Amino acid sequence: MKISNLKLYNFRNYDTLNLDFSNKQNIIIGENGSGKTNIVEGIYVLAITKSFRGSLDKVLIKYGCNEMSIEGNVKDKIRHSYKVQLSEEGKIVKIDDNKIAKISNYISKINVVLFTPENTSVIKDSPTSRRNMVNIEISQLENTYLHLLNEYNKILKQRNAFLKLMYVNKLASPDYLWILTDKLIDLGLQISHYRNDFINNINVYYDKINYDITRKQGLKVSYVSAYKNKTKEELMKKYQSYLDKDIIIGKTNIGVHHDDFIFSLKGKNLKDFGSEGEQKNAIICFKLAEIELFIKDRGIYPILILDDLFSCLDAKKINNILKKLNKNLQIFITTTDLKNINTKILNNCTVFNIKKEKVVKRIYE
Ligand SMILES: Nc1ncnc2c1ncn2[C@@H]1O[C@H](COP(=O)(O)OP(=O)(O)OP(=O)(O)O)[C@@H](O)[C@H]1O
Ligand SMILES: [Mg+2]
Repeated sequence: MKISNLKLYNFRNYDTLNLDFSNKQNIIIGENGSGKTNIVEGIYVLAITKSFRGSLDKVLIKYGCNEMSIEGNVKDKIRHSYKVQLSEEGKIVKIDDNKIAKISNYISKINVVLFTPENTSVIKDSPTSRRNMVNIEISQLENTYLHLLNEYNKILKQRNAFLKLMYVNKLASPDYLWILTDKLIDLGLQISHYRNDFINNINVYYDKINYDITRKQGLKVSYVSAYKNKTKEELMKKYQSYLDKDIIIGKTNIGVHHDDFIFSLKGKNLKDFGSEGEQKNAIICFKLAEIELFIKDRGIYPILILDDLFSCLDAKKINNILKKLNKNLQIFITTTDLKNINTKILNNCTVFNIKKEKVVKRIYE
């Protein structure tokens, strides 16, 4: 999968920007605050329709403007043009100029694997941010996953609303609650299988990648869920045993909305015992394992974005990683200093130098 060009209009600090990319390594250099991350964020938003910076969509629109758009041509087997527009009317996504009514049908068309320093806090953050990360990754691999997730959240909302009603109206019949619970379990079990398979598949590559980078062993990610290895009947009993608690707090205590993912090194949870460097490394390896998964299991070469990796890992390790990456991958690297990058790697790179919001392209060959 290769993105050949990107057009930004009123996106972040750019009025208009039109870039033609190399289908190999692209390096974006510039001072702090010059707009490097904004460019790779543009590619990410074109693929996922949301930013990785966790903020509201409207911050993507240039200050003082009312709309923005991102356009790009991406070739997998066939070349298509993609567009994400934001305006007062909301978000519109298009493929080959045709509006796609459901955003969930658009996501997963462009596959990106992103590393950003903002990812590295995922291990320390709440389970929600770990679930969000995994949800985005699986959605790119499995289109139905996002539909299941949307449906699950809809039923969960209805169930919580009904629990609140049962709290107020003690005479309300619980029949409807059990209908919703039944649906929630069916959807949750499917989501849980996807999550379990994804984590098992990541682990196939995870520790080996870690060993190549750190020469240490024992890196693992585990899936923790009340649904794991449970039957529908067992889960229904669990929901029944939690009924009183659920009614009191007006929320569903059991479900895949409480799932978590634990990163461990030699059996120790990195959240509690890991150094900052170990936590960052665990996330980098996770992203690299995901690339292996895309390539080996799906025959897909996702677009790899490495934003400011040099702020997270020493240059020697990074250059080692870059040397080992599959040569068919299209890669975007942002850095403040070209000196960080090994001259051998630089030889085949296209470099975009940002100066005062103007981007100068230079090809090393
Ligand atoms: N909606 C917006 N409108 C205008 N400018 C914005 C908007 N959002 C962010 N910016 C500006 O874009 C500039 C560039 O941000 P960006 O994160 O791309 O920098 P960077 O080159 O990656 O810097 P660093 O090296 O520090 O990571 C910042 O000065 C920021 O204030
Ligand atoms: Mg940046």
